[in-house]
Amino acid sequence: MEILDGKKVSNQIKEEITVEVAQMKERGEKVPHLAAVLVGNDGASLTYVGSKVRSCKKIGFDSTLIHLPEETTEEELLEQVHNLNNDPDIDGYIVQLPLPNHIDEEKVLMAVDPDKDVDGFHPTNFGKMALDMETFISATPFGIMELLKRYKVETEGKHTVVIGRSHIVGRPISILMSQKGNPGNSTVTLAHSRTKNLKELTLQADIVISALGVPKFLKEDMVKEGVTIIDVGITRVPDDSKEKGYYITGDVDYEAVSKKASYITPVPGGVGPMTIAMLLKNTLLARERHNTKKS
Ligand code: GUN
Repeated sequence: MEILDGKKVSNQIKEEITVEVAQMKERGEKVPHLAAVLVGNDGASLTYVGSKVRSCKKIGFDSTLIHLPEETTEEELLEQVHNLNNDPDIDGYIVQLPLPNHIDEEKVLMAVDPDKDVDGFHPTNFGKMALDMETFISATPFGIMELLKRYKVETEGKHTVVIGRSHIVGRPISILMSQKGNPGNSTVTLAHSRTKNLKELTLQADIVISALGVPKFLKEDMVKEGVTIIDVGITRVPDDSKEKGYYITGDVDYEAVSKKASYITPVPGGVGPMTIAMLLKNTLLARERHNTKKS
């Protein structure tokens, strides 16, 4: 069994980006600038956004955190989005999800300039991704593909079962894994909450990508020997014995399932850190594209 070490690979990617940014600086070019908009005080979102901004600083990007109060109206948020679209200094930005219930998420994501949409959530970018066109691929699926690539995990002709059909992970990764390419060329089954025979499907899977958000859902008796496991779940489970009052766990019963797996991602330290690295990669791409457009 080999651990797909997202922490290690994400550090490699960040080092690669750091070198590129230093070269940009030497050439007297503007360094990439990522902005993040956070509405409200959701604990997990605060952690993720904080981590994204800290990573920017470490690798030499400029970064801006726009933290708005929970009671921000949809109109006010749309105005922020509009300002970011028109700010030439910002190369890319994200609006951290989930948004408070009184804000229409779709309306906000639609308002983001696709050229600055480093999350790859805008329908233009999602559509381009689905059509194999060059675009911003959402950070989590992009991170999974990069992890498979760097560990040379064989995906061609394999049966990949994706659990979860979210717009951010399940749906896009099911498309990417079935696309021509390496990684890719996989036969994909997309399972979700209405799937009737999930265990039958996962037992046939060479690769299971679980993005469900149910702690320790995937058990040892649901997978075959030699399976590759990508665990996208990151759930905070309340636990008074921990300093923070919770511990983090994935969708996979790691202890037991890892004994049967060829490759497996740990939680934490698997897909999570890759997500941040790929967001930075997308921001670098955004900067490079803006440079190319100007010249
Ligand atoms: N919430 C959970 N994951 C993500 C992500 O990748 N981007 C944004 N903007 N919000 C998220």
